[in-house]
Amino acid sequence: MAADEFTHIARDAVGARGRFTVALAGGSTPRGIYSLLAEDARKGVTTLPWDRMHFFWGDERCVLPDHPDSNYRMASETLLSKVPVPPANVHRVRTELSAARAAAEYEAMLREFFLPEPGLFPRFDLIILGIGPDGHTASLFPKTAALSETLHLVAANWVDKLQAHRITLTLPVLNAASAVMFVVSGGSKAEVVRQVLAGQDAGCVYPAGRVQPASGRLLWLLDSAAASLLPPDMDPTVRTQ
Ligand code: 6PG
Repeated sequence: MAADEFTHIARDAVGARGRFTVALAGGSTPRGIYSLLAEDARKGVTTLPWDRMHFFWGDERCVLPDHPDSNYRMASETLLSKVPVPPANVHRVRTELSAARAAAEYEAMLREFFLPEPGLFPRFDLIILGIGPDGHTASLFPKTAALSETLHLVAANWVDKLQAHRITLTLPVLNAASAVMFVVSGGSKAEVVRQVLAGQDAGCVYPAGRVQPASGRLLWLLDSAAASLLPPDMDPTVRTQ
């Protein structure tokens, strides 16, 4: 399901604008999606215009790119090393720099690539996001400074509970996307998914609840465990896989 959506959006974007821009999520849930995309490409099940596709990250841990915790490494191992994406189309966060410099450089690169009008934000064709049991998404964790960023595209966000900085796209960029796809697995997310999707998160306590693309599609792809607390008449854009 998520791989199908990815393929559909990628084909539409390249057909309409000659390129596809996607910000990948980290963590464990997307591994399966990336592996399936690579496997479908290997078997010829899907043919995608890989040379017209540009890969970015919605967030990154402040570790070297070959570190086991690196989101770049995870996407490279599962997908990017297995499909013919030109290296120049892979736009990783340079985490060998300090957190502040990595964020500043990533922002400069986004501005140079997307050339957003002054005061506007880059419009990704697709942003893939996950959600944590605490309602964080990308590296926008509850009660962290990056949540209130309204001007910058990227933040070096200090996350107290991790005692670490994380590099993350900010909410204005997430909400400028043409499509945002949450991919969620596991019963540990069921309660936060219920509160966010059933409108119980009135105060937008959860960062994930603040992802509301202004003029874009919002898709939630949930496994049955993550969807287990949702009312049966849930919005059709919320699909369980
Ligand atoms: C990260 C992710 C993070 C992730 C959620 C869910 O860098 O870890 O960007 O926001 O999407 O923590 O992770 P799982 O999919 O592994 O549950």
